[in-house]
Amino acid sequence: MQPSDADHTKPSDTTTLNRPDTPGPHHAELREPAVADGPAMWRIARDSRDLDLNSHYAYMLWARDFAATSVIAAVDGNPAGFLTAYVRPDEPTTLMVWQVAVDAAYRGRRLAARMLEHAVGAAPRCTHLETTITADNAASIALFTSFARARGARVDRTPLFTEETLGGDHATEHLFRIGPVAPAT
Ligand SMILES: CC(C)(COP(=O)(O)OP(=O)(O)OC[C@H]1O[C@@H](n2cnc3c(N)ncnc32)[C@H](O)[C@@H]1OP(=O)(O)O)[C@@H](O)C(=O)NCCC(=O)NCCS
Repeated sequence: MQPSDADHTKPSDTTTLNRPDTPGPHHAELREPAVADGPAMWRIARDSRDLDLNSHYAYMLWARDFAATSVIAAVDGNPAGFLTAYVRPDEPTTLMVWQVAVDAAYRGRRLAARMLEHAVGAAPRCTHLETTITADNAASIALFTSFARARGARVDRTPLFTEETLGGDHATEHLFRIGPVAPAT
């Protein structure tokens, strides 16, 4: 019997990074979220100002049920970024990345790019990655197109949920479907 994606144990991924306003180096570790990380994920999402903020409950439940495909970036032991993703139940070769955020103090240090690589590495059966992005989110568009470029993958963009269907107070979420994803070199 082959292990499922949920059984896959992600390797530990640690490195050091510098932060201009505090003496470094700082120790950054990528790991699976635990339920206890839910409130920190909520705080990071709130502070990002760009993400739709879900409840503490939603992040805790996510950390319980989708830990294997999600990532916490902990700096000096404290969550400074997170990525939530799941393997689509009706399309088990597609990893859907739902939210990714990094605390402002740690942006531009490739933490998001590394979390994305980490999540993809945790879903080895997935040949495609999906996410949705609003047209005004340059950082997110850059993050995912950079990943696609590095993996030699196509990016197909189509509106998934339009402003109208989202109730009129939320910009259209464009589906970015990336793949096939070549193995990391
Ligand atoms: C999007 C976000 C997670 C990026 O985090 P980050 O750790 O700073 O990103 P990285 O350092 O890993 O950068 C990855 C790539 O994106 C590019 N990038 C990151 N931020 C960028 C910005 N503001 N403008 C343009 N490009 C940007 C980087 O240059 C890099 O590209 P490269 O590989 O071609 O050099 C972060 O800006 C964030 O938390 N934003 C608020 C939440 C959000 O909008 N999330 C996305 C929607 S779910």
